[in-house]
Amino acid sequence: MAEFYVDNTVRPRRSLLSVPAINLRALAKLGSLDCDGVIFDLEDSVAPEMKDEARDNLLTFFTQTPLIGRETMIRINPVSTNVGRDDLKAVIACQPNAVLLPKVEQPSDIHDVADVLAEADAADTLKIWAMIETPKGILNVAAIAEASHTLGARLGGFVIGLNDLRKETRVPAQPGRTYLVPWLMQVVLAARAYGLEVIDSVSNDFRDLDGFTAECAQGRAMGFDGKMLIHPAQIEPANRAFAPDEDALAEAHEIIAAFAKPESVGLNVINSNGRMIERLHVGQATRLVALAAIIDQRKAEKA
Ligand code: COA
Ligand code: MG
Repeated sequence: MAEFYVDNTVRPRRSLLSVPAINLRALAKLGSLDCDGVIFDLEDSVAPEMKDEARDNLLTFFTQTPLIGRETMIRINPVSTNVGRDDLKAVIACQPNAVLLPKVEQPSDIHDVADVLAEADAADTLKIWAMIETPKGILNVAAIAEASHTLGARLGGFVIGLNDLRKETRVPAQPGRTYLVPWLMQVVLAARAYGLEVIDSVSNDFRDLDGFTAECAQGRAMGFDGKMLIHPAQIEPANRAFAPDEDALAEAHEIIAAFAKPESVGLNVINSNGRMIERLHVGQATRLVALAAIIDQRKAEKA
């Protein structure tokens, strides 16, 4: 089978706010919130008897009040169920940026959905994202990530789900997430091996913003691109924690400028004020500058 590499267009994903699709009051608030993306949830936050109404809410939302300039994902129920298959039809009708699959445990979970999207002629820009939130999901994460290289697989990234993972593994919630870190880093590693994005788990205590800020800093240090959120109060701390930091940005500009000089043609390493910089960092620097520019532009538009 031919291989291809997902074009994960550079976009900030510091803050992906989850909203129960049944909650009209919360849906109405979204236009005024400064999160980088929204996860419209049809899965665990919507009671079984409310799923139809929740889908209808999304159809209305996407036709009447589309979120411009923000990433949109719809989290569906497992497509092995009738509910999940109906959710996927709603996704195709709403045309968000991505469908987020719960409890992904093997590559076929991605391929099955990709096949349905292909059959429905869904645009190639409709990506699939995977929640990694079960023991099997963690154990198989490299194989799942590899699915992104299969023609038509559409896989864009992973979101960690610690509420499910803690439940399944019986590892209790503790400050610092000590015993979960090795599993989280496995997911980060698998994502990077295949050019995928990776988002840290929700934090349930939305009134404890100090604890949340500390968890964001930890997630950032582990290499996550951003965090899934449950409450508007978490947006600002997440945006701050996962934004390109000023020193890194200044360095990125320096690297780009240094390698753009005529005398740098043919050089892979340069002495920049007593420090070695390498051409291999130009790509990373360019990405960081692009991310910062998008964030600045949104700030300017809001002002
Ligand atoms: N998205 C958008 N707006 C939200 C929101 C969210 N996720 N969570 C709360 N709000 C709004 C509320 O509607 C309220 O608006 P109002 O001032 O117009 O009434 C305001 O923010 C303050 O909310 P607050 O009173 O502090 O909380 P709440 O009791 O209304 O909601 C939760 C608390 C936890 C029920 C709610 O935040 C929620 O449902 N979060 C998402 C849960 C989810 O998606 N789970 C699945 C993934 S783990
Ligand atoms: Mg879950």
